[in-house]
Amino acid sequence: MQIIERIEPLRLALEEPRRGGKGIALVPTMGALHEGHLALVDRARERAHTVVMSLFVNPLQFGPNEDFARYPRDREGDARLAESRRVDFLFAPQPDELYRAGRAISVVPAALASRWDGASRPGHFTGVLTVVAKLFNIVQPDVAVFGQKDIQQAMLIRAMVRDLDFPIRVVVAPTVREKDGVALSSRNAYLSAVDRKRARVLSRALFAMRDAFDAGETSSAALETLGNTVVGAEPTVKLEYLAVMDAVSLEPAPIATAGTLVAIAARVGTTRLIDNIILGDPDPIG
Ligand code: PAJ
Repeated sequence: MQIIERIEPLRLALEEPRRGGKGIALVPTMGALHEGHLALVDRARERAHTVVMSLFVNPLQFGPNEDFARYPRDREGDARLAESRRVDFLFAPQPDELYRAGRAISVVPAALASRWDGASRPGHFTGVLTVVAKLFNIVQPDVAVFGQKDIQQAMLIRAMVRDLDFPIRVVVAPTVREKDGVALSSRNAYLSAVDRKRARVLSRALFAMRDAFDAGETSSAALETLGNTVVGAEPTVKLEYLAVMDAVSLEPAPIATAGTLVAIAARVGTTRLIDNIILGDPDPIG
C-alpha cells in the first residue's frame, strides 16, 4: 500500500491503473477505522482492481460546536488496518492540501439536506458534498462505496452524482454491527462503559419495529409508537428523531412496506448516534 499526502502524486500514481482499465474504486473515510469501513473496502474490491481509500477529517462538515478537534485520529493504526485489507492507495492529505485560502465554491444540496440529520447539523451536508466532490475529481474513480449507516449522506451523494453528472457508480453497503446490535461508529469511542450499554437502545428500537412489521404491522404511526416506547425505557437517551420513511427520498412514509427505511438519531450522554434499518427483504438502495 502506498500512503500519499498530495493531490498531484496521487494523480500520477493512478495513471497506470487507469490505463489498465480494470477499474478504480474509492472509499472515502475520516479514519478511526473499524470493521464497518473495512467492509466497504471488500465491496470496493469486488468491483474494481484498484482500491483507493481517503483518510481526511473534513473540517468543513463539522459545526462550530461539534467534535472536529477531538475527533479520534490514529493515522498509524488506520494505515495498518487499511493495508491488512489490501487497500492499494491511502490518500491522507493535510487540510491545506484540500482547502486553499480563499475557497469560493461549495456544493450545496437542496431540500433533503435540511431535514433529519441536516436539521440538527446545519451546513453539515454542504461540507460532506463539497469534500466528496473534490475527492471524486481528484481520484476520478469508476465506483465509490459508502455505508448505509449514514443513509442520508449516501442518498445525497447519489443525488449529487446524478445532478452534477459524475460518471461514478455509488454503491451503498450494509451496516456492520457489534454482536449486541450496536452499529459500529468511530464516535462509539466517546462512550463511557455505561453509555455504551445504553446505546443498545437505538438498534433495539429498530429491531422491535422490524419484528412488528414482520408480524404484520404496517402503520408507521404504530411502529413509531412502539419504537418510542423502547427508547423511553432508557430515559438518559435523548431521542432526536425516530421515523419510518422512503429509503430513497427519505420522505416520511405513512404506510410501511418491504423496502421502507426506519431511521433513528439520539444523544447518548453528549454523543450523537444514528442508525437505520430497511424493513423486509428487498434492498432498494444497494
Ligand atoms: P466516516 O464517518 O469515517 O465514514 C466513512 C464511511 O464508512 C461512510 O460511507 C460511512 O457510512 C461508512 N460507515 C461508517 N460506519 C459504518 C458501519 N457500521 N457499517 C458500514 N459502513 C459504515 O462518512 C464519513 O466518514 C464522511 O462524511 C465522508 C464521507 C468521508 C466525507 O468526509
